[in-house]
Amino acid sequence: MKTKILEPTKENITYAGRMLAEGGIVAFPTETVYGLGADAFNEEAVKAVYAAKGRPSDNPMIVHIARASDIGQLTPRLSGDIVALIENFWPGPLTMVVKKKPGIPDATTGGLDTVGIRLPDTQIARELIEAAGCPIAAPSANISGRPSPTKAQHVIDDLSGKIDAIVKGDDCRVGIESTVLDVTGDTPVILRPGIITAEQIEAVLDKKVEIDPAVLKQSTDGSLKPKAPGMKYKHYAPKADMVVIEGQRDKVKKEIERLKGLNEQLGNKVGVILFEEKAFIEAAHDFFARLRELDKENVDLILAGALSDIDGVGFAVMNRMLKSAGYNIVKV
Ligand code: TXA
Ligand code: MG
Repeated sequence: MKTKILEPTKENITYAGRMLAEGGIVAFPTETVYGLGADAFNEEAVKAVYAAKGRPSDNPMIVHIARASDIGQLTPRLSGDIVALIENFWPGPLTMVVKKKPGIPDATTGGLDTVGIRLPDTQIARELIEAAGCPIAAPSANISGRPSPTKAQHVIDDLSGKIDAIVKGDDCRVGIESTVLDVTGDTPVILRPGIITAEQIEAVLDKKVEIDPAVLKQSTDGSLKPKAPGMKYKHYAPKADMVVIEGQRDKVKKEIERLKGLNEQLGNKVGVILFEEKAFIEAAHDFFARLRELDKENVDLILAGALSDIDGVGFAVMNRMLKSAGYNIVKV
């Protein structure tokens, strides 16, 4: 398949919208990462997205809308919490998991009776959805298991020849995927941490927000030893082996230098990821792009310094960093 690479002009967005309406699959920029879109109500188109990404079909997709009022097409009821979250965080990097309307195909929601919904904060995304005239199911526009794409070139590298079109835009402002928040029960639960944090959501709703225990355990479990975890945890993975060095900052720096030296002596090409202290927003913005750069440089080993003194945003970045490394952690 020849993939059309489109500059984001009015004409091209209209054209790409028509492709989506007719069952095509089109990648586009959002403020978090690039998405690979299909008409959320078209089962065949949604299946084509899974096929292009090589993604397991039981993993539900996030459905993107162009206006908050379109949420009524996807869910039967709005709670006070949902309305407050829409008013405070949309458009923006917050996905809400709500009860789904029966008309949404199982292929879109992985057979669940809920649906994740998001109103993205880039004009290109909203104009494209508007032009398509339907809600757009869109996972991140990467080959399944690879780092999420934050630049148009990342999408071209992964999906050129496999999808109908790519609408180009600026590099993504946020750099990690949206916060996924389950609001189907009384207590909201964060299923995937993002740049919108539990504290911010708590302040708006004036109630406690939980973090899914699975996320917490994976993000904090220092007892995991290097090489222990199985491949089932591999996600956002670079081609190189990757190790996260965790501990007090000076010791982390020293250990990275030591491991770098040792491995270079063995003839390995070594890449280092070490962010400025407390620069969590920058870390989120750069992390996936950095992994892809190091892959392009063909490094054999990536040594990444764990973020310390983390806030909610740092927590979201550490969630990605540990997954990328397959929970390969060295404590110093
Ligand atoms: O920022 C983002 O969310 C990006 C851009 C393109 O919007 N999209 C994205 O999609 O990250 P994806 O498919 O890579 O990740 C969607 C995540 C998955 O972890 C999926 O399991 C979860 O959201 N999810 C989607 N619908 C869900 C539902 N109904 N219940 C529970 N989890 C859901
Ligand atoms: Mg993804």
